[in-house]
Amino acid sequence: MAVRTLWMWAFFLLRLAVTAASSLPAAEVTHLVFADLQSLQAEHVDDTLRTGFHFQPPKHWINDPNGVMYYKGVYHLFYQYNPKAAVWGNIVWAHAVSMDLVDWLMLEPAISPSAPFDVNGCWSGSATVLPDGRPVIMYTGINEQDQQVQNVAYPKDLSDPYLREWVKPDYNPVIAPDAGVNASAFRDPTTAWQGPDGVWRLVIGTKDNHRGLAALYRSLDFKRWAPARRALHSGDTGMWECPDFYPVTSPGVDGGRKHVFKVSLDLTRYEYYTFGDYDYATDTYVPDASLADGNEGLRYDYGNFYASKTFLDSGKQRRVLWGWANESDSTADDVRKGWAGVQAIPRKIWLAPDGKQLMQWPVAEIESLRGNHVNITDKLVKGGSYFEVTGLTTPAQADVEASFQVMDLDKAEPFDPAWRAVDAETVCAARRADAKGGVGPFGLWVLASDELKERTAVFFRVFKRDDGAKHAILMCNDPSRSSYADNLYKPTFAGFVDVDIAATGKIPLRTLIDHSMVESFGGHGKTAILSRVYPTKAVGDKARLFVFNNGESDVKVTNLNAYDMRSAKIRSLN
Ligand code: FRU
Repeated sequence: MAVRTLWMWAFFLLRLAVTAASSLPAAEVTHLVFADLQSLQAEHVDDTLRTGFHFQPPKHWINDPNGVMYYKGVYHLFYQYNPKAAVWGNIVWAHAVSMDLVDWLMLEPAISPSAPFDVNGCWSGSATVLPDGRPVIMYTGINEQDQQVQNVAYPKDLSDPYLREWVKPDYNPVIAPDAGVNASAFRDPTTAWQGPDGVWRLVIGTKDNHRGLAALYRSLDFKRWAPARRALHSGDTGMWECPDFYPVTSPGVDGGRKHVFKVSLDLTRYEYYTFGDYDYATDTYVPDASLADGNEGLRYDYGNFYASKTFLDSGKQRRVLWGWANESDSTADDVRKGWAGVQAIPRKIWLAPDGKQLMQWPVAEIESLRGNHVNITDKLVKGGSYFEVTGLTTPAQADVEASFQVMDLDKAEPFDPAWRAVDAETVCAARRADAKGGVGPFGLWVLASDELKERTAVFFRVFKRDDGAKHAILMCNDPSRSSYADNLYKPTFAGFVDVDIAATGKIPLRTLIDHSMVESFGGHGKTAILSRVYPTKAVGDKARLFVFNNGESDVKVTNLNAYDMRSAKIRSLN
């Protein structure tokens, strides 16, 4: 906690300093602004730590996924992009299309500043497919007065399968901040939904002093929008960015259906979600009482994952989640590399059958990139030992699935009651991968160098609880040894995994390794952690993969499948 708080303060102070020093527009931005760097074209792109199968454009800065959708057999990914430099600024909606969420064709930006209602930036937003089949984008424009307003854009030619050109009607903006709305914190409209009454609804992220709000708007024609008297939801957690609201189904919940509400918290740069009941007649959303609603709430991902957005994949009848992974190296590094920002692997997201949380799993399509395969079964890893997973050609670009059986659960350390009041991240920071334990830490060392000095640990640690629940399972990502390089932000990230290990005896882990991305899923997708790391020696074919056990209890790797991953084809149209 202390380390994160320090970082948050450092980040905040830096932002203040930068804001004061640069000639910023009045619109409140949440990204670091470097006025002198934001139009500095990258002369050279350093490929060393670029990803092979996670989406990145060939160069420059990216942030939030926008307007993600499936339309007539084609997946569309739009995203915040700086066409001029590897730092935030000059934001347009870049556009890429795919038939399978794996290989991508990069198109011209779909939406760029061009009119009084977006001349200072085209910020985040969403797509909605109308009942007549036409898609419409609603995005935040920064207008001439530096106010945040909401605009629509329609495809110019519906017969173009890639929907390359988008037209912004002259009647924009369709939603402007009314008196009483904070015009520099009013952005990121959701996909709209239509009630049984035929009325469209959407929400926009905003704040009233420290209170984050999901402002609700209604429309009959997608053109004239009226604010509802009450926000759909609110919380005492500062500015709410990139809200998302959608239905999910599960046999484990009353009525078989719930609505999920997710928000990205500008203050912490984390997201949290609740799910609960939504009543169309009154536009009321009530989160389930059992769920924390605030900074302690459930998260899609306990790591570096922000500004996410889901869409309904009507082709495969699934909901797919996209999220942005920021860099955790320095701005100078980003300028030197010529690129910054990666999109996380698209994940299928659904409500767990027991109705207790959402589950996520990389979309099955990415398994088509799996190549050479290594399998290990029933291998005992004695307490205090490790072994190398050999046989992969590209351990820096791999997909690893492993299942760990705990041999002596009685050795679990007691869960310090003082930790009950803190989050998993604080516990992990206090018990890193090198701190010996009873049951665990055990898991993977990925992106490890020959002499093992560089390595990123993804692991579990099992605690005995004294409060009724039997065990607490901590899943943790510890990058403290991930790199020889300086100036890196190396936070431990962690979440608890809701698995009854006394009953299952085992806990599974899947980790996607992609040069500077370590994206892990514990407990079959109950807990996800994405982390960015910057090895200097464990790069390319020098990277190695290990299983380690730093606990007293032995563990058995009952089954481990590791695959080399081929690179996705990410090509430009021209
Ligand atoms: C989130 C965000 C959004 C905004 C966009 C600007 O990362 O700050 O609130 O629309 O990025 O690029």
